[in-house]
Amino acid sequence: MEKNFRNLISITDLSIEEIDHLIDVANDIVENPDEYIDICKGKKLATLFFEPSTRTRLSFEAAMLELGGSVLGFAGASSSSAAKGESVSDTVETVGCYADIIAMRHPKEGAPMVASRRTTVPIINAGDGGHFHPTQTLTDLLTIKRKKGELGNITLGLCGDLKFGRTVHSLIEAMLRYDNVKFVLIAPEELRVPEYIREELRKSGADWKEVESMEEVMHELDVLYMTRVQRERFFNEEDYARLKDTYILDLEKLETAKEDLTIMHPLPRVNEISVKVDDDPRACYFYQALCGKHIRMALILNLLGIK
Ligand code: CP
Repeated sequence: MEKNFRNLISITDLSIEEIDHLIDVANDIVENPDEYIDICKGKKLATLFFEPSTRTRLSFEAAMLELGGSVLGFAGASSSSAAKGESVSDTVETVGCYADIIAMRHPKEGAPMVASRRTTVPIINAGDGGHFHPTQTLTDLLTIKRKKGELGNITLGLCGDLKFGRTVHSLIEAMLRYDNVKFVLIAPEELRVPEYIREELRKSGADWKEVESMEEVMHELDVLYMTRVQRERFFNEEDYARLKDTYILDLEKLETAKEDLTIMHPLPRVNEISVKVDDDPRACYFYQALCGKHIRMALILNLLGIK
């Protein structure tokens, strides 16, 4: 059956022009909030979160409410019929009877893609396992654009769990499409980016390198994207305990950093950024969370075909 709507499963579902347009709309929403206040009146967003979330779920819900729409959904698999064995395909087909658009997070890689084959309304991947997190990437791109003025011509350091970090995978895929982005991948051997991402970096011809020491490259970076070592993705507690504190960004390590470094983190943070860094003007991670609401407002409008 031909579907007359679009889904967002991977960041590569969007062209650079479409991303630019979403960023423009997100900025216009901030500049002209009155124009958007009732724009989604009568529309409903369902948030189907089979895995925990604070920012993604609540920013989606805040986004829809600020556009004048309504929200429904669940915040854990245990409170949905998934607990009785229902498939994600049956869940989204059912929810399509109640909502106009769906944001779905699932611990299994590929679950939103499977669901997209049966959905009758637009579906947004709000994070699938260690795979992709395209709306976090849109958030990150908006943050970088607002802070740096452009998405090219930067040295981007990505630090921490680059193996399981879905935000990192999506961000690399997105930034590979911009000119003159140098990638510095900072991770211990066990948490390096997966081979398919390394292959994409090789094929792109981009300037990139892998290092283990954050201190060694700090002075080079325009953006430092910190990530959490994710306990929930490890097969055993021993490996997690050994690797979890590999990188802790503190004020001392920032001494050699550029004055206009942009420090980002998709959050939640555990230990990897000292709370003392929060008051440094270079810390942008809570601003980044705000950008997440603005870009999700733009995305909802776009996928609903409004404005
Ligand atoms: N960045 C992010 O995905 O945060 P949550 O897990 O809180 O949604």
